[in-house]
Amino acid sequence: MKILVTGSAGFIGSKVSELLLKEGHTVIGIDNLNHAYDVRLKEWRLKQLQSHHSFQFYPLDISDRSKIEPLFESMQGLDAVINLAARAGVRQSLENPWVYVETNITGTLNLLELCRKKKINKFILASTSSLYGNKERPFKEDLKTDQPLSPYAASKKGAETLCYSYHHLYHLDVTVFRYFTVYGPAGRPDMSLYRFISWTAEGEELLLYGDGSQERDFTFVEDIARGTILGLKPLGYEIINLGSDKPYSIQYMIQLIEEMVKKKAKLQNKPFHPADVPATWADITKARRLLGWEPQVRFEDGVKQAVDWYFENRDWAASCIEKDK
Ligand SMILES: NC(=O)c1ccc[n+]([C@@H]2O[C@H](COP(=O)([O-])OP(=O)(O)OC[C@H]3O[C@@H](n4cnc5c(N)ncnc54)[C@H](O)[C@@H]3O)[C@@H](O)[C@H]2O)c1
Repeated sequence: MKILVTGSAGFIGSKVSELLLKEGHTVIGIDNLNHAYDVRLKEWRLKQLQSHHSFQFYPLDISDRSKIEPLFESMQGLDAVINLAARAGVRQSLENPWVYVETNITGTLNLLELCRKKKINKFILASTSSLYGNKERPFKEDLKTDQPLSPYAASKKGAETLCYSYHHLYHLDVTVFRYFTVYGPAGRPDMSLYRFISWTAEGEELLLYGDGSQERDFTFVEDIARGTILGLKPLGYEIINLGSDKPYSIQYMIQLIEEMVKKKAKLQNKPFHPADVPATWADITKARRLLGWEPQVRFEDGVKQAVDWYFENRDWAASCIEKDK
């Protein structure tokens, strides 16, 4: 297949692209390489992909219709679009909500419209467990999600509903994945695992929102990428959780890091942030039933891989964190 992956220099997009290339597909990658976090990480991930001859990369912004339309016009035989490009931080979305709407809603709309025009019949959207907010756990896909706690979650709700309209009106086959806290090597330096590994390894203060009793259904990046690719088959319109179904507390994550890094973390507590959700837990019955998907990587093994990656790249990876983000 020939598949267009947006956000291909991103944490999840690069892994999805890598697995697709390994399966023998052609991948057209798009990414605007923005500065939401240190671009060296995006460049590092891109470099791993550029050794594959079936990978083509275009540094484009999905919210700029005038730039992506000519690309779609020039592209023959695209089978599917996997839209992983997004502004993704929950807390950062309070600082500049506009950019979240531009990329996550307008960008998604641009891609849907181009799929309609070019008769590309499969669309995959990355959405988020953040949509469930404070609902009862485990989170099932049919829970009401009309009270998002942050502009980030609201923008993803907007993208999901646009996808439904395009499915309804033009019979576009859409799979929406709600990912649960994705972690792994070469992760995002604005997410807790990367920051906590680095701060502990470098003996710096570890900034912790809340008391660490918050729970997350951490899901390993390769499991997420595998599930996303399974979603390429025709499904109509489906919203599917991808989570590990095994939530762990942030305290436990810190304990694991301390053991692996062999240093004590210097905790600096901050108040719990109102845009954060206290706990997440995915009901993955639907992913199992529709995709035959099962998470495979144990949390302890996945954290170890992230710690190992950090130490292999420490000379530059340590300086990718912005303390106030
Ligand atoms: N990481 C998680 O825990 C998580 C959880 C739930 C959902 N998601 C979703 O999964 C997707 C991938 O997330 P990620 O963690 O890999 O984030 P990421 O920031 O590492 O990847 C997103 C990529 O998209 C690119 N991008 C952003 N805006 C763009 C634009 N306008 N045009 C082109 N490229 C643009 C960025 O440069 C980046 O490389 C996102 O849609 C995110 O909302 C992630």
